[in-house]
Amino acid sequence: MHSIVTLISGRGSNFEAIVKTAQKENWAVQFSGVIANRPEAKGLDFARSHGIPALALDHKAYPDRAAFDRALMQQIDLLKPDLVVLAGFMRILTPEFIRHYAGKLINIHPSLLPSFPGLHTHERALEAGVETHGASVHFVSEGVDEGPIICQASVPVLPGDSAAQLAARVLQMEHQIYPRAVKWYLDGRLRIEGNQVKVYPPESQLFAHE
Ligand code: GAR
Repeated sequence: MHSIVTLISGRGSNFEAIVKTAQKENWAVQFSGVIANRPEAKGLDFARSHGIPALALDHKAYPDRAAFDRALMQQIDLLKPDLVVLAGFMRILTPEFIRHYAGKLINIHPSLLPSFPGLHTHERALEAGVETHGASVHFVSEGVDEGPIICQASVPVLPGDSAAQLAARVLQMEHQIYPRAVKWYLDGRLRIEGNQVKVYPPESQLFAHE
């Protein structure tokens, strides 16, 4: 049975989508724990109500990023994860942390990377006037929102879209692609080849909003 540890900062809707898909599809997986860096993170409530160990580790209680990341690593390692899933975890991680989980640390980002890394992706996509926006699931490497891309979802930008409308359309696709990427990982179907991720047997790694 594979063990997954999830890190969140807030709402936790991606985490919820992964748990619900796992239940619906009977995955052989254990959600060993959810850790939030903000004690008020809503996603902790969902975890608790589903019998998933939930822990708040407030980054403000630590003197610096390195000290927080060390504490976080200790907590994660107690749960012996095969995969660490960043699901709206809004902190930059130290290189030590990223190296410690190399190859088993994945993230979802609300843009078609490498476009729009960082914050406010929907506002920036609207400002840039792109016609297609989206979301990406990727292995985490040592840059912000960088690393080999596992899969992406493309989403049209519609005339008159507000950032909130676009975000909602992207989130709907996030909830589809993140569970797929996690399942591929658990089934041992992903190979990192250079900066590319291949799925074996091959399957489309690009999803489109209808
Ligand atoms: C999601 O849109 C996710 O892609 C984004 O935060 C949101 C979390 O929502 N992550 C990032 O911006 C990471 N750079 P959720 O808490 O409901 O899953």
